[in-house]
Amino acid sequence: MSSKKDSRALRFYSDVLGLEHLHYGLWDADAEVTLANLKTAQANYQQAIIDLLPPPPARILDVGCGTGELSKTLKAAGYEMEGLSPDVNHIASYAEKVDRPFHNCIFEDFQADTQFDVVIMSESCQYIALDKLFPVLATCLKKNGIWLVVDYFVKDGVTGVMAKSGHTYTEFQRAVAASDFIMDFDRDITDATLPTLDFAANLVSRGELALSMLKQRIDQRSFALSKLVNVILWLARKEVKKLDENRILIDSAAFKQAKTYRLMRFKRT
Ligand SMILES: C[S@@+](CC[C@H](N)C(=O)[O-])C[C@H]1O[C@@H](n2cnc3c(N)ncnc32)[C@H](O)[C@@H]1O
Repeated sequence: MSSKKDSRALRFYSDVLGLEHLHYGLWDADAEVTLANLKTAQANYQQAIIDLLPPPPARILDVGCGTGELSKTLKAAGYEMEGLSPDVNHIASYAEKVDRPFHNCIFEDFQADTQFDVVIMSESCQYIALDKLFPVLATCLKKNGIWLVVDYFVKDGVTGVMAKSGHTYTEFQRAVAASDFIMDFDRDITDATLPTLDFAANLVSRGELALSMLKQRIDQRSFALSKLVNVILWLARKEVKKLDENRILIDSAAFKQAKTYRLMRFKRT
């Protein structure tokens, strides 16, 4: 995620939508799909994490901390925070929001000086190679420490584009079973995350409608400009096809069928 694409997405979330969190949130049942309710859902999600933490002060490593929103809230609640993200854009935002140590690397390469009481992976576990995850956790988390994972996983038998992001749930469970971690909390939050995808799909279809109205106007008004737009569309045909193929990624029904989104707490034995 340390790419220009990621930074553009970040700027869209923060500058256009006013969102600082980079996760799906946790929607109240029957909440209308609006930007205000998306913000509420993201606050609910943070609270669900806080409810699973030991009381402050505890030392917490926020792995894949994004812009630092969760760390900021936890610091204000009295926790000793450190952030980790491979994205260079997060260095400045973490310094500004949290002003606590920040590790600019992938978790797989993290070398801890001292051990933490808690390690949180909020929608970041999916990016971390499973064979490296447990050895690194063992170096940075205390015995009896807590590991929180909030993320989505791919169900068995799913293939193609829907299988591209997220660990396979069965493989993840197998890796946990072979480790020295015991799960003591597990909540399936899939249904409570789906409205975020509906919100994204809604945005995309509004954008498409605006573009097709613009094209219709150009077609009616200027033959030369209309030809130019058609040439541009032809040149961008591969990108357009890819966008079309990836549309399923923001389809909430497809997501529910292919993935399971879990809020889980583990203890290191
Ligand atoms: C979807 S964002 C989640 C951000 C934040 N935790 C939140 O919940 O809003 C994923 C985060 O994981 C980070 N990330 C990607 N690959 C990673 C890796 N191998 N190790 C640690 N973090 C990684 C990204 O840079 C980003 O900060």
